[in-house]
Amino acid sequence: MNRILEPSPGAITRAARLLRAGRLVAFPTETVYGLGADAGDDDAVAGVFAAKNRPSFNPLIVHVTDAAQAAGLIELGDLGQALAARFWPGPLTLVGRRRETAAVSWLASAGLDTIAVRVPAHPVALALLRAAECPVAAPSANVSGQISPTTAAHVAESLGDAVDLVLDGGPCATGIESTVVDVSRPGRPTLLRPGGLPVEDIEPLTGPLLGPGAGDAPRSPGMLSRHYAPGRPVRLDAGAAAPGEALLGFGPVAGATLNLSPTGDLREAAANLFAMLRALDRPEVAAIAVSPIPDTGLGRAINDRLRRAAQPPEESGLSQP
Ligand code: TXA
Ligand code: MG
Repeated sequence: MNRILEPSPGAITRAARLLRAGRLVAFPTETVYGLGADAGDDDAVAGVFAAKNRPSFNPLIVHVTDAAQAAGLIELGDLGQALAARFWPGPLTLVGRRRETAAVSWLASAGLDTIAVRVPAHPVALALLRAAECPVAAPSANVSGQISPTTAAHVAESLGDAVDLVLDGGPCATGIESTVVDVSRPGRPTLLRPGGLPVEDIEPLTGPLLGPGAGDAPRSPGMLSRHYAPGRPVRLDAGAAAPGEALLGFGPVAGATLNLSPTGDLREAAANLFAMLRALDRPEVAAIAVSPIPDTGLGRAINDRLRRAAQPPEESGLSQP
């Protein structure tokens, strides 16, 4: 039975405690309801992907209380600072280069060197973020493939027991997701997703925004995420490592250099995936061999990401950073 609570101070304290304990809390923002997890907790973030039944690990937006907290996670640059000062709190997400000190799960950013950050303009969201005292990774609080929820009842219908608590802030004022602007490349601000903040409001500060691909046609959100690919070749469904290879194990395999989950737990494997791929992506490693992963539940998302990682760059057809 999931719990929908009016956002009293007591309920917000309870929601913040749940977040700090690695649980999932749905909360209202001005755009849509978010399914929140402590952004620094790999296992909690993996729980978000599991609850949404997301087929691939799209990077998540990290929610913070203000521009100063954002600046601790990413390099905003002059343009990012100006956009933050003008539009935060509000329906604008800024993608910037991750700071080395950022305590954000690599799974939340799908292994990318950038993180998407925003300050939501909703009193309940801000109260929760302040009480939790941690950045909160939150995609829209719906099962993958459904439309984003704009009421607490939508969240409960869509996610059911997968969410530990829903804070009811009434219907969302904006109702469509935030506009996503990439400020990670100096002088090349790029619109990654049109959304609740009109481009016409942004461009007076930025000049014309680049589109994510050739031309300036907006592309669908699913096409926008830039996927992490290791520098080493990746060999899937490996029984054992060949000479020079590192073995990324799953389940009780012998000789694993690192193991996604020795007990074969897919949620643990998802939580470890990006951090372990990065750890094995070293010059002395000829290739990263990966044990077979069952193609069920979160395993589908893990295999989706591994197949992408295994594609040679020229065949990937995916946009690169
Ligand atoms: O309004 C919103 O943005 C809502 C509320 C809950 O804040 N959140 C939301 O999250 O829509 P989600 O996960 O459904 O969408 C995240 C978007 C995706 O288009 C994703 O590709 C993009 O942000 N994104 C996240 N991190 C990124 C990154 N590092 N680089 C490029 N795109 C990124
Ligand atoms: Mg969504």
